[in-house]
Amino acid sequence: PFPFYDYLRREAPVVWDDVLQAWVVARAVDVEAILHNPQVFSSNRLALGRQRFADPSLVPLFDVVERLMLQMDAPNHDRLRKLTAQAFKRKAIEGYAPLVEQLTRDLLAPHANVGQMDFVDGFAVPLPVLVISAILGIPPQDRDQIKRWCDDFSIVALNFYAKITDEQLRAGQIAVADFREYLRALAADLRGRGGTDLLSTLIEAEREGERLSFDELLANAILLLNAGNETTSILLINAMYIMCTKPDVTAALRADRALIPQMIEETLRYMPPVHFIGRLVTREASLGGEVLRKGDLLMIFLGSAGRDADRYDDPDAFRLDQKKKAHVSFGTGPHVCLGLQLARLEARVAINAMLDTFSSFELASTDLKFGPNLNLRCFAHLPLVTKA
Ligand code: HEM
Repeated sequence: PFPFYDYLRREAPVVWDDVLQAWVVARAVDVEAILHNPQVFSSNRLALGRQRFADPSLVPLFDVVERLMLQMDAPNHDRLRKLTAQAFKRKAIEGYAPLVEQLTRDLLAPHANVGQMDFVDGFAVPLPVLVISAILGIPPQDRDQIKRWCDDFSIVALNFYAKITDEQLRAGQIAVADFREYLRALAADLRGRGGTDLLSTLIEAEREGERLSFDELLANAILLLNAGNETTSILLINAMYIMCTKPDVTAALRADRALIPQMIEETLRYMPPVHFIGRLVTREASLGGEVLRKGDLLMIFLGSAGRDADRYDDPDAFRLDQKKKAHVSFGTGPHVCLGLQLARLEARVAINAMLDTFSSFELASTDLKFGPNLNLRCFAHLPLVTKA
């Protein structure tokens, strides 16, 4: 249970928070209304971070930040999203199943007969990084370097609510400059070769005569390398936690693997990887009896929406038979997660592989600690005792 979310939904569903300097939105009905109304509730939060890039030497960095679809509105967002979405359709993603299965097997093999493992470091953290790098077609030897560039970039570009140091800003700038050169060479190599990797697909993507510009390709590549990793890791960790703490669920899955997709959706509702997302108000609007003004920031609590009793039966219980009302843990509306089919595929393959590899698994400790991030809320470690 999340008592704070319950309190908000009951007593203060739309409320100004002085610490966050934002309106907090807690009810599912309001969350959905906001995410489906991008004219009034904009994804473009660059205004909050613009002063960060005031120095003219930072223009190349800002050029990329500006092209992240996550913080764009129509019509630019639609154009970029359509060009990218072709590569993320369910059918295209299902084609990666053998690759995901192979990477999963390789990661689990060393743990198979050991009797214990940390599911976080040993499996859930590395898998999404390996998958997205392989799908993008990035040579294995370059992956660590690219991860460092992406991390340095994210700190300055995706995190307008926190203070950053000059050193971090410089690191972000260097990362973009270096990654730009790297990608230029890689793209030149791939262009016209008809490759089936995701980067080739993005390079060749064309719609109504339009293509991605190089900066758009760069921004997209960085976003894809970042957006899905931590979130997918958390989904895997939470699913594993549920299987360890709810033996009836695990028994049901062992008896009928067809229940796995429903188990994944319920995990996403019950323990969402992303607890809140932001929007900026573009014109005066009223919501939950409050008046929001132009320029106000909204914090939209997906984590609370998933526990809303107006939406779900028995919301604080984990139910494989939860009525199939869609959760909002991937967002909803025009910015709904682009990678959701990939995240679902990874979770499905991972759960199947854990059930295949081990006849049983249990938590080695019930004293689990959360990592420091309050939004991407997640156990720092998940020590398991396993039986082959
Ligand atoms: C957008 C969650 C995995 C790529 C989003 C949004 C959420 C989300 C809540 C909406 C943000 C907003 O409206 O402001 C998740 C969760 C994941 C996951 C919970 C795993 C369980 C992935 C993966 C990828 C990915 C694997 C790609 C490889 C993206 C992109 C967007 C996005 C590109 C921006 C879409 C747009 O702005 O139109 N995700 N995500 N995500 N996600 Fe995911």
